[in-house]
Amino acid sequence: MKKMELARTVEELRLHTDAWRDLGYVIGLVPTMGALHAGHMALVEEARRHADVVIVSIFVNPLQFGQGEDFDRYPRREEEDLEKLRAARVDLAWLPSEKVMYPEGFATTVRVGGPAKAGLEDAHRPGHFDGVATVVAKLFNQSGAHVAVFGEKDYQQLLVIRRMARDLDMPVNIVAVPTVREDDGLALSSRNAYLAPDQRKLAPRLHEELQRAAESIRKGTAVEAAAFNAREALQEAGFVVDYVEVRNAETLKPVKDQRSEPLRILAAARLGDVRLIDNIPV
Ligand code: PAJ
Repeated sequence: MKKMELARTVEELRLHTDAWRDLGYVIGLVPTMGALHAGHMALVEEARRHADVVIVSIFVNPLQFGQGEDFDRYPRREEEDLEKLRAARVDLAWLPSEKVMYPEGFATTVRVGGPAKAGLEDAHRPGHFDGVATVVAKLFNQSGAHVAVFGEKDYQQLLVIRRMARDLDMPVNIVAVPTVREDDGLALSSRNAYLAPDQRKLAPRLHEELQRAAESIRKGTAVEAAAFNAREALQEAGFVVDYVEVRNAETLKPVKDQRSEPLRILAAARLGDVRLIDNIPV
């Protein structure tokens, strides 16, 4: 079996990607922040279906964390992650350091609008999507990927990246993968590791309430009422709710006609200092 390549500088990365492009290979990229779980690995599998060679990047991006967020305690497990990537027959792990990604004098950021200003994650994490867009634009340029795979778990992020790639004519095809969940419905997340046992037991309620809301909307309940009920139920259960909103699934704009638009329910809620996000189609 061919061994997985590691690259820690842009030069090392390009050595491989230039050769692959010369051979006519389609290059797939899966951007991650590491602490890899089955959700990430589903993205890798999907990348395999679209590309001849697969690159997985691992970089905990300081630009997308706000003050008081979990940048310092974000799980970092490089060795374990590399083992998982080897087992999945990934071709190259791209492991830039902060210095490589943001060298002395770095002064350019991508500023995103549209779905990035929907009043969802952006309202609670100022600057977050500019940080995501900036690093993802760099990852696209560094790798020259033809295809990049993102999870629906971070649904607003997915739409922000799609919008950016279209707006800036980035020659990359964005592929989405449905959210991978635990048996009890909790969406897999690197942050689930922070949950205390009692919080972990409660956490699947988030997905349950979204399902309940989706079901009642399909039966004709007004989207505002369904979202209100979900917020109340979650608060009662012990969550601090940042938002539960039903939006147009393509634009994330408020719903005008719930019978004719594609709908998505998106939520963020906290258990102690652990912030969970989730979303489902209606
Ligand atoms: P991270 O949270 O590590 O997620 C990397 C990718 O895995 C994202 O596309 C995310 O949506 C996807 N993912 C996470 N959990 C998932 C699940 N349970 N099911 C399916 N997909 C899942 O998202 C980021 O990193 C960063 O913002 C990044 C895009 C790498 C930019 O720094």
